[in-house]
Amino acid sequence: MIIPVLASICVLILTIWFYIKNTLSYWSRRGVIQIENKHFWSRELFGTTIRDKYQYGKSLNQKYIGTYIFSSPVFFPIHPPLIKNVIQHDFSHFRGHGNYNEPKDILSMHLFNVEGEIWKNLRVKLTPTFTSGKIKMMFETLLEKTHGLEKVVGDYADRKAACDIKDVLGRFTTDVIGSCAFGIECNSLEEPDNDFRCYGKKVFERAPSRLFYVIFIPHWILMASDFKFHGKEVTDFFTNLVKSTIKYRQDNNIVRKDFLQLLIQNDSVTVDEIIAQCFVFFLAGFETSSTAMTFALFELASNQHIQKKLREEIEEVLKKFNGNLTYDAVIEMKYLDMVVNETLRKFPPAASIPRVCSKRYKVPDSDLVIEKGVRVQIPVWGLHMDPEYYPDPEVFNPENFSEENRNKRPDFTFLPFGEGPRMCIGMRFGLLQTKVGLISLIRNFHFTLNEKTKTPLEMERGSIVLVAKGDIWLNVKRI
Ligand code: HEM
Repeated sequence: MIIPVLASICVLILTIWFYIKNTLSYWSRRGVIQIENKHFWSRELFGTTIRDKYQYGKSLNQKYIGTYIFSSPVFFPIHPPLIKNVIQHDFSHFRGHGNYNEPKDILSMHLFNVEGEIWKNLRVKLTPTFTSGKIKMMFETLLEKTHGLEKVVGDYADRKAACDIKDVLGRFTTDVIGSCAFGIECNSLEEPDNDFRCYGKKVFERAPSRLFYVIFIPHWILMASDFKFHGKEVTDFFTNLVKSTIKYRQDNNIVRKDFLQLLIQNDSVTVDEIIAQCFVFFLAGFETSSTAMTFALFELASNQHIQKKLREEIEEVLKKFNGNLTYDAVIEMKYLDMVVNETLRKFPPAASIPRVCSKRYKVPDSDLVIEKGVRVQIPVWGLHMDPEYYPDPEVFNPENFSEENRNKRPDFTFLPFGEGPRMCIGMRFGLLQTKVGLISLIRNFHFTLNEKTKTPLEMERGSIVLVAKGDIWLNVKRI
């Protein structure tokens, strides 16, 4: 009796072992240099390893390498012209992000997740919402939120207390997006523990475990059990919030200058679609911009001469506009633009950009064929830290974005917002929000690094957006 049982266990173990060996040799069997995650179950899907993998492939003079997420093969292009093909020129072969989306799970049906014709139609409907004219309309709201920001940071200055800048800026961008996407005044700057911010934080905290479910459990089982990617509580909160705001506006004939209004006015967008899009504006809009501002302030506090030069530009331009911060004044600040770009180079909030092959693709000048369903990772952070494109990549140098230096670089070596038809739809708004926040702070306060900040900064592994390990603490003085 015992022998057949032991034999069956051995056969099972051997079968699993062969299966894993076979799947993890997908690339080497195709003659592609491959790099494996340290462990089969590794959570290091994002962040630091993107840079390591890029450097490994580049050191071997490869235009691409192969890698894995769990046991699934991932194509990893390194050469900028090939990256251009994948995300722009041959976009019809790589149309999706490869993310979970299920119509029964309303919040999952947003622009970042959906694919194919649904994505194409939605992108066409949403594009007019993000023109510079529409973004300009929201400038007043942005400006209004800087008053709260200045008050909170001013309080740290008066108390001479170290300021956890990421937390403060997260509250600022939550207030901005809360107002522009959901039409609500959530006042996170004044009340850090309000519902909106708490539910917002929950969205990010739970993402990794939910990702595990949608990768390993068939979706029909998930749907049968009424699975919600962001959890039922979060889904209900955001759904009810949008529905009640729409009803309130309609009942009281209220018209506001925000994204929600633009979506309500667009007859071709359904209420469920509005809910999902407001949600993605929040997801994609608050953490990315607050992270960018946090890293910018870290660098400005560490490089006093750059902070001084930036402040001089801000003061000079504002003088021309009679001390008023206007949309046009922001556009005139060229050095600010260089500082923000350099921040997004050194710390791109999205360290890599995902794609999935939607149609068989023959890689140009090679025999390799990418099969439908294979995932792709565009190594944004690897490109940004490559000394071939950015000499001394560890040094924070806004001059990397002078006109002259920009022109020297090949295309597709600076991708903080992606590129091609699927690039970030909220880029203009994200940049504006980041710049307005920085202007309001640099204009009013002087920043130095507090000794509680651990330098050199180390990045958190396994995080979707690039985040520093530990918080960033600054000393603040009024000007
Ligand atoms: C500094 C701020 C931001 C950064 C660095 C950033 C970065 C990105 C990146 C890398 C992508 C993927 C692009 C690709 O696949 O090629 C993306 C997509 C997207 N972003 Fe942003 N983003 C920012 C701000 C925003 C804001 C403020 C919003 C909305 C209000 C937004 C909404 C979106 C949406 C909806 C998509 C999906 C587009 C699609 O799939 O068609 N982003 N963003």
